[in-house]
Amino acid sequence: MAARIIDGKAIAADVRSKVAAEVKRLTTRHGLTPGLAVVLAGNNPASESYVGSKAKATKEAGMNSFDYRLPDSVSQAELLALVKKLNTDPVVHGILVQLPLPKQVDAQIVLDAIDPVKDVDGFHPVNAGWLASGLPALAPCTPLGCIILAKTVYPSLAGLEAVVIGRSNIVGKPMAQLLLAENATVTITHSKTRDLPTVCRRADLLVAAVGRPEMVRGDWIKPGATVIDVGINRVPGTDGKSRLVGDVAFAEAVSIAGAITPVPGGVGPMTIACLMVNTVRAACAIAGLPAPSV
Ligand code: GUN
Repeated sequence: MAARIIDGKAIAADVRSKVAAEVKRLTTRHGLTPGLAVVLAGNNPASESYVGSKAKATKEAGMNSFDYRLPDSVSQAELLALVKKLNTDPVVHGILVQLPLPKQVDAQIVLDAIDPVKDVDGFHPVNAGWLASGLPALAPCTPLGCIILAKTVYPSLAGLEAVVIGRSNIVGKPMAQLLLAENATVTITHSKTRDLPTVCRRADLLVAAVGRPEMVRGDWIKPGATVIDVGINRVPGTDGKSRLVGDVAFAEAVSIAGAITPVPGGVGPMTIACLMVNTVRAACAIAGLPAPSV
């Protein structure tokens, strides 16, 4: 039997409408309109497209969107000065500095300058530490989205064998922490893992975040398992155009898994939806209000 296809687009739309309802409540009851500042340096076309989508989603949710466009030649000092200004601006509750940054800028220094309570990307080491300590934290948006998708299949992840492929600070490591917080039994695998297919076959929940097109084959998947594919890889298509594929060989996996995310239309739309969630959470925390229902 073919796997259930997890419709990330529809689930993301649902999350965004819940965020919009929460924003309406905060604005009318508390006079609080969450605001997200997005900083883009340079003119990388992919970054421009992401930043445009983020601003559109922010406005659609009823929040304030502040766009900062800086030239490719921007200095580290100028970027740091902008981040410091945004840290103290009372109408800004979330700050996102779009990556990659121009080569003369040390991205880690800029990310470390963001006030952790406004760090809606969840990339600041203080948020990573809070998350790992089981404290309230702003967690990175992509793994947050993966948890929401997994919970549409298993309302409780407690006791599940979860295997994460990839150990990046942006996806793999926070993914493992969020799964641990959900009481899953978590294995993180990486390029030095021995016999990766055998480790993956243990998984009730397999999360692939390696950035290698179709690396995970059908026979790596336990029959009936849930597969969350974080990969977005552009490969040459048969018609001369390029096409997007995930880290999982979808055509093989779909006949073995119990549920699987497609690429595109799986994890991708959840990332921006969770950015909206983090912005509302940050605004509530800064205003001293209880955590929102999303
Ligand atoms: N560049 C690509 N994805 C992201 C993201 O999620 N956050 C930031 N800040 N930059 C990115």
